Amino acid sequence: MKISIENETKLIEELLKAYDVKENEARIVAEVIVDGDLKGFSTHGIGRFPQYIKSIEAGTIKTEGDYEIEKETPGSAMINGNHKFGHYVTVKGMDLAVKKASENGVGVVGIHDSNHYGIAGYYADLASVQDMIGIVISNTEPAMAPFGGKKALLGTNPITISIPSDDINNYICVDMATSITARGTLLQAKRKGEEIPEGLALDKDGKPTTDPSEGLEGSILPFGGFKGYALAFMFELLAGPLVSAACGVDVQGTATPDVMCTKGDLLIVIDPEHFAGSMQFKFYVDQFVNEIRAENGVIPGDREVENIRNNHANGISIDETLYEQLTQIAENKGLKIDEYFEE
Ligand SMILES: NC(=O)c1ccc[n+]([C@@H]2O[C@H](COP(=O)([O-])OP(=O)(O)OC[C@H]3O[C@@H](n4cnc5c(N)ncnc54)[C@H](O)[C@@H]3O)[C@@H](O)[C@H]2O)c1
Repeated sequence: MKISIENETKLIEELLKAYDVKENEARIVAEVIVDGDLKGFSTHGIGRFPQYIKSIEAGTIKTEGDYEIEKETPGSAMINGNHKFGHYVTVKGMDLAVKKASENGVGVVGIHDSNHYGIAGYYADLASVQDMIGIVISNTEPAMAPFGGKKALLGTNPITISIPSDDINNYICVDMATSITARGTLLQAKRKGEEIPEGLALDKDGKPTTDPSEGLEGSILPFGGFKGYALAFMFELLAGPLVSAACGVDVQGTATPDVMCTKGDLLIVIDPEHFAGSMQFKFYVDQFVNEIRAENGVIPGDREVENIRNNHANGISIDETLYEQLTQIAENKGLKIDEYFEE
């Protein structure tokens, strides 16, 4: 079964509004989820939608109230997300970081008491489309054991960096978990009743497993051995205690919808105009990209561009379990959603 990009956007907005999400917030959530599916991060696309609805029902995502800026300097701010949708709070945080960077060279925004926000790359791109550099670091509830250990104590802590370019053919962005794969890969395999490839996860006794449920109970391995673990360790602190969010085992609620979310986010925006100058920076960015392409090298972001092209043309696959979950979510509010899908 498939859904077109246009219908996916409309469906998410319609369902969210039925669950009392304000129109402007629903639009942002839909846009980020669709961006995840378009770029090929299906683990963080519409497949995560049922989790968000469970969070609304459990009261861990609030449809009432709004986020607050609780501390501010010309170059920095701290945001209390007040348990609104992570997508909405992070877009607002990024808007503020971009404004501060354009005025001061750098804008750094810390966020706590927000929620799962889907793909990190969406937010970094908000800076690069405005000729700035966007960096986002977050922590998540534990999924990864420390190097040498067995018990999951660290999140899959993603980082994304998006860089502006003058060439419309260049999209330059890395968006990745510090675990070898995102937790969503295991959640998606579990939902589809599939095994995961070897080398991704350990069971709770620290033994390699291809069973996604065992991996979720145990731990996901870091990417790049010790180095991936070391980055996840640092991000745990930068996106945790630095921004009044939790760290380690105290981080909850990014994959468990019935508990309040305690993770944090650190958003960093740099305006090259206040450094080498925007024109000069982008000139060297594009020159470097051309050098890499001349060697048939792949640019971070190339895979997303290809996925966007294919997914726009072909639509997004919806597996049977997800279709049933979405139908149930709609029926609970007296809605029929069959017309959005095609075989
Ligand atoms: N919201 C959260 O709490 C959370 C937590 C973890 C991850 N995530 C998100 O999960 C998504 C998936 O993360 P991941 O680490 O599993 O992604 P991944 O391993 O599929 O890709 C990571 C990055 O490397 C690039 N890449 C990988 N292989 C490539 C290849 N062969 N050629 C070209 N480019 C290649 C991808 O395009 C991407 O930029 C990301 O969007 C991330 O932000 C979110």
